[in-house]
Amino acid sequence: MRKCWLRLAPVVLALVLPAASGWAQNQSPDHRVDPAVNKPVDDEGHAWWQHAVFYEIYPRSFADSNNDGVGDIPGITSKLDYLRWLGVDAIWIAPMFPSPEVDWGYDVSDYYNVNPDYGTLKDMDALVAQGKQRDIRVLLDFVLTYTSDQNKWFQEAMSSRTNPKRDWYIWREGKGAGAEQPPNNWTSNFGGSAWKHDAASGEWYYHYFYPPQPNLNWRNPEVEKNMFDVTRWWYERGIAGFRLDAVDVMFVDSRFQDNPVVGNEKNAFGDPVEHEINDKNQPELHGVLQRLRKVADEHNAVLIGETWTNDIDQLKRYYGKHSDEVTMPMDFMFTMVNKLSPPDFRKQIDWVDGSGGWPVYVLSNHDIQRVYDRYGDGVHNDQIAKLMASLYLTLRGTAVMYYGEEIGMENNDPKRPEDVKDSRGRVGWPKDKGRDGERTPMQWSAEANAGFAVTAPWLPVDERYKTYNVSSEKSDSKSILNYYRQLLTLRHTNKALLDGKYVALNENDSNVLAYARSYKGQNVVVVLNMSGVAQKVKLNLAAKGVEARSAKTLLSSFGAPERVSLNEISVEAFGAWIGETE
Ligand code: BGC
Repeated sequence: MRKCWLRLAPVVLALVLPAASGWAQNQSPDHRVDPAVNKPVDDEGHAWWQHAVFYEIYPRSFADSNNDGVGDIPGITSKLDYLRWLGVDAIWIAPMFPSPEVDWGYDVSDYYNVNPDYGTLKDMDALVAQGKQRDIRVLLDFVLTYTSDQNKWFQEAMSSRTNPKRDWYIWREGKGAGAEQPPNNWTSNFGGSAWKHDAASGEWYYHYFYPPQPNLNWRNPEVEKNMFDVTRWWYERGIAGFRLDAVDVMFVDSRFQDNPVVGNEKNAFGDPVEHEINDKNQPELHGVLQRLRKVADEHNAVLIGETWTNDIDQLKRYYGKHSDEVTMPMDFMFTMVNKLSPPDFRKQIDWVDGSGGWPVYVLSNHDIQRVYDRYGDGVHNDQIAKLMASLYLTLRGTAVMYYGEEIGMENNDPKRPEDVKDSRGRVGWPKDKGRDGERTPMQWSAEANAGFAVTAPWLPVDERYKTYNVSSEKSDSKSILNYYRQLLTLRHTNKALLDGKYVALNENDSNVLAYARSYKGQNVVVVLNMSGVAQKVKLNLAAKGVEARSAKTLLSSFGAPERVSLNEISVEAFGAWIGETE
């Protein structure tokens, strides 16, 4: 969760809980359908992506087809059958464009090609075609806020103050008598000033992240045109959409005013903590997103947003007033619930479910510590992994998985500073060890290097791989992997889980998170024991207008009986039970 605190620390999460949750509040799930993009796939008017399970792939670590220790595109293609078996409908591949890799692909030097480490455009075409045969759509990561300093656009911009591309980036004069100080107090998310001095021209350029990641100037219409063309080019190659990277920092205050500093606190990099009101969330951002959405709509594509927000109103804005911005803004406030707390999850689900937009749930990704050890207590981590899967995969909305969560991969953080590959960990060590830990190679088998590669992989494989790997877990009916698979099958086939309203139950219970998904009289009930003590749960369904006394078990993480009384559901410590009322 390191990224979250860094990006949200200065902001108080001053949120107001909506009025009582339950039937009334949840009467109208978003059934709106865009004519072009969102062809309905069911009677409710839901589009494919609303029922889909997305799966994030970190290409460097997923599957290595040529044994060089680095994952690649043909490697991903070779695992499509596995993903289909698991129940994945769409993959989002973290950046696979040519890049000097100062931020592992989030510094793009050419948007129209594939990083040679990962393969070729032909390999990408083959992946899309093979995916199509298996009904798996392919989405890419659109790093639209900044480029690499090695990108030819920036190279041109650097070449002189009068170059036509100069204004594609953000340049300012420095402050002080000799203009030797940065133009203002904005700090980089990766430490130090957000401005870098260019000795040749005497000006400073702006970078919210690393210095080699100069921010684009989205107020220049040429930037918009060129970046939109990038998306068209990929859509025409069969890409089904994009995850939009770091959209909150696309625009900065046009007057370049300082950010207010919050107290005397320092962050992991030793910089003052700022209230980021001038380098984030500027209103123009929404106009660009609306126009980008139009281009996506014209190509029947979807946009997932890396939408870090401080409150539900900010999240709502990303959907757009007329549901015309980001198709799927991910709710990162959900990932900020960092402990097994039913009240905190309940509150967050209520907000998002009641927001009017289609919720998008995510628990971890390449920037966020893995679920296994984030929520694990060190003793019941396997149960807790199943518990958390049962949460984000049974809520009303779309779920975005992260590779390896389905086998219980845990963070394998670097032990020594000299091993760190993520530059952010190098700068932040030891307070911030970077994100290598959540990016280690996928564990395919109990063979050397977890079957990922014969040569030593670019990051060390977690030592638990002999037990936690796809091959071993496939043949263990009680594994996390088989639990995920059953859950995904259920999610894809049960009408209440697909289309049902979310109805909070037993709202005062601080140990157990319980809710129903209710669709035309069909009720699926989910009971998640987030405590280390077995619980006997009496579900108060009558209060929600449902007359039922018993339920049949659809899935449980602890071997629950086939039928249970709704007056007393026994749920083991950290157990998950999912049933349908009778
Ligand atoms: C990506 C990170 C990356 C950052 C800066 C993001 O939001 O998810 O992995 O480090 O952008 O490039």
